[in-house]
Amino acid sequence: MKSVALSTFAILAATSLTRAQSENLPTYPVSDDVTFNFDILSTMGQIPNDGADVSPSLEASNNITPGDRESFTLAWFNLANKTKQQALDPEIAYDPVNVRATWFSVASYFRRADTYNRADWNDPRINSYWEEQQEAFDKAIAALPVPARRIAIPTDGFTIEAIWYPHSNNIERRPTILMGQGFDAAQEDLYATFVAPALQRGYHVLTFEGPGQNKPRRDQGVGFIPDWERVVTPVVDLVLSDLADYVDPDRLVLYGHSFGGYLEARAAAFEHRISALVLNGGVYDSFMVYSTPLSDDLRQLLESGEQERFDESVAELVQAEETPTQIKWGVEQGLWSFNTHSPFEWFQMLREYNLTGLTDNIQVPVWLADGEFEDVNAGQSQLVKDAMGDRAELHLFNGSAGYHCQTGASQEFGRVIFAWLNKALNKEA
Ligand SMILES: *[C@@H]1O[C@H](CO)[C@@H](O)[C@H](O)[C@H]1NC(C)=O
Ligand SMILES: *[C@@H]1O[C@H](CO)[C@@H](O)[C@H](O)[C@H]1NC(C)=O
Ligand SMILES: *[C@@H]1O[C@H](CO)[C@@H](O)[C@H](O)[C@H]1NC(C)=O
Repeated sequence: MKSVALSTFAILAATSLTRAQSENLPTYPVSDDVTFNFDILSTMGQIPNDGADVSPSLEASNNITPGDRESFTLAWFNLANKTKQQALDPEIAYDPVNVRATWFSVASYFRRADTYNRADWNDPRINSYWEEQQEAFDKAIAALPVPARRIAIPTDGFTIEAIWYPHSNNIERRPTILMGQGFDAAQEDLYATFVAPALQRGYHVLTFEGPGQNKPRRDQGVGFIPDWERVVTPVVDLVLSDLADYVDPDRLVLYGHSFGGYLEARAAAFEHRISALVLNGGVYDSFMVYSTPLSDDLRQLLESGEQERFDESVAELVQAEETPTQIKWGVEQGLWSFNTHSPFEWFQMLREYNLTGLTDNIQVPVWLADGEFEDVNAGQSQLVKDAMGDRAELHLFNGSAGYHCQTGASQEFGRVIFAWLNKALNKEA
């Protein structure tokens, strides 16, 4: 067994810890651990709309040791706790501007502190940090000039958890963006980077989470499902009924973030009431995405159906000190969100998450992002573009906007995507 894991490590070492320095990335590394570097940039990307602050985030990054996930957790927890004390101070909470800015940041720091709590499903921090972030976030959205609210959408088998952000207090039909998250991040993570910029431009927004995603996974114990139209169709039903006074049915956009690039595309092949589809970025074949980093040895165990040996080897790999943070995190988050303890089973599930034979059923304009430094879903946006041809526009973000999902560069993402939506929806005003 050992030999399998060790040779696996030899392969993985190529994509290892010090990549932030060696890969010549376009931004100054805030951690020598490339995965922590990405996570810290994600937090700092929330700065423009109250989701974080610069020096406190850099101070947290100073207290993080590359490869040490507990140090990452603690650094963000301490910042979250410290900021929460300020939010609770009645003198500071004298007006709604302070209230929402402070609580949005508290929520975001607690979410960051939760990133690596997946090794043990009974780790109480999985729920306690989440409750902290949710309470903080709800205080922030209640203090917005136009308050947002949570909506639970029961379906057959699970409940979708959504947040409705109306553009204004006036009842008027407007273009509306339905925003779906991906593999790990929360719908709350979209607020600073995409929801607030959409509201500022006159859109209504509904974010939502289905099985496998943060709130449904915690509250209902449900893992991901491949047939994501079971999530999107009830969401569209809701906005065209309960929210019909607000939603312009001819200008309804569906957005998929990261792994949402698979989920929302899959749903759009079955749900035809949307007007445009935005994939950031494309995911054609999830099994290909997650099996590419496997060594030849591990792949052989997987293909020959040796579940026990495969599971043991992956467990050993995740335990090994030298294994890159990205791999440890990806496996632990994958098992938790797909609700299985067996990596072998997880890979069998992933085979179903592909767009083969489905793209012809998507008949609305499609916009796809790709990034010069895309590492998670490298090459996938091009596969989706190839399958969709002229119906899809592929935008390559490069340089400092070229990380996975334009992390840290949501302003550039906004410039590009809202200009495209403006044309695609022929939006007046
Ligand atoms: C949170 O911060 C407060 C005040 O700064 C401190 O007294 C408390 O011990 C902290 N809690 C934890 C769990 O660290
Ligand atoms: C794609 O997913 C379908 C089920 O949704 C599955 O039957 C098929 O085998 C998968 N195709 C590939 C190439 O993995
Ligand atoms: C980045 O994209 C712009 C616009 O498409 C292009 O002009 C430029 O050459 C690209 N830079 C790199 C490094 O690919």
